[in-house]
Amino acid sequence: MKKDFLKYQAQTTPHPLALEVSHASGSYIVTTDGKEHLDFVAGVSACSVGHSHPRIVSAIKEQAEKYLHVMVYGEYAQKPAVELTKLLSEHLPNPLSKTYLVNSGTEAIEGAMKLARRATGRTEIIAAKKAYHGNTMGSLSLMDFEERVKPFRPLIGDISFIEFNREKDLEKITSKTAAVILETIQGGAGFIMPTNDYLKKVKKRCEKVGALLILDEIQPGFGRTGKLFGFENFDLVPDIVALGKGMGGGLPIGAFSASDELMDLLMDNPKMGHITTFGGNPLIAAAALATLQEITESDLMEQSLEKEKLFRKHLQHPLIEEIRGKGLMLALILESAEIADKLILKAKEKQLILFWLLFEKRAVRLTPPLTISEEEILKGCGIIVDILREIEKDEMEC
Ligand SMILES: Cc1ncc(COP(=O)(O)O)c(C=O)c1O
Repeated sequence: MKKDFLKYQAQTTPHPLALEVSHASGSYIVTTDGKEHLDFVAGVSACSVGHSHPRIVSAIKEQAEKYLHVMVYGEYAQKPAVELTKLLSEHLPNPLSKTYLVNSGTEAIEGAMKLARRATGRTEIIAAKKAYHGNTMGSLSLMDFEERVKPFRPLIGDISFIEFNREKDLEKITSKTAAVILETIQGGAGFIMPTNDYLKKVKKRCEKVGALLILDEIQPGFGRTGKLFGFENFDLVPDIVALGKGMGGGLPIGAFSASDELMDLLMDNPKMGHITTFGGNPLIAAAALATLQEITESDLMEQSLEKEKLFRKHLQHPLIEEIRGKGLMLALILESAEIADKLILKAKEKQLILFWLLFEKRAVRLTPPLTISEEEILKGCGIIVDILREIEKDEMEC
């Protein structure tokens, strides 16, 4: 399979991990050679309630027996999408009462940016340096890494950047600004938490100048930080929130939510301000509804904070400089990028799945399914510490 994977499927890097997947369940991915791999990555935070959760699989099966795609987004009332958006509205704070369902995180960001420009009549969008919001042209325009964006220019216009957590930069948000867009916790940058009421201060500045605040919850959302949405840890409510990844429980989905007043603008001037064929697809919405029900009806959110403590307690080694993040959105910061590489590749050999972060090369992501057990956490942490000891020993011998 690996040969055909490399030959026929377009690749994103010359050296993919290329595990040959047979099936997956709970915290484990089983490869075609029968080996079980403990998954500390969860499809990059997407498999929020573990692989092939029975509640999600049965929701998908039940919906598949009834109907699949019947019409483009927004024309017909379909129970899974209606129930999903209603339940989201019950869990999102006021005034975030209406949700537009799309197909991916990056499309949620595109929709949020369009809504902000439409609502304010302004064009400037301010993003944070080292942010990651997706890879379509609009989302890519919010990235300040020249080497990653240069080949794709021109991107969309009137984007400026501020430094995350730098209060002085808030002066750059003015009456020309349509929206400020931030990840609640900066992911690719190394799981950087907002400090010193930063997000509240951004919101206040936005309110002062009439700009909107968009928070990207695509990674922290859906229980990963101990709350359903990461921003609930920081005592503020954004004007627009972008959702994705863990929302689908392993199926592709994105969404953006706002007040009725804001969202209704997409119906007019122009009519159909955002269009998507498959947004709100009944199969995907049924999976997302089951995921949301599972997260909100169980104690998975509280558990994620207890599980964070276990990770922090059992991941102690001199090569680990720091553990960043919250709940089950954690990043090990190692002494160097080389050590991070070695750890990830050696862990693969020992059937523990770890992965990199996009921009912080010294980081190793720990974003397991929220359903991971204490025993699995201890097993994985033991493997990590053993590998770090081996790396340390090798370094001393060199
Ligand atoms: C914070 C954040 N925003 C947006 C995205 C883009 O989501 P997608 O890959 O579903 O387009 C990601 C994906 O990694 C993300 O982590």
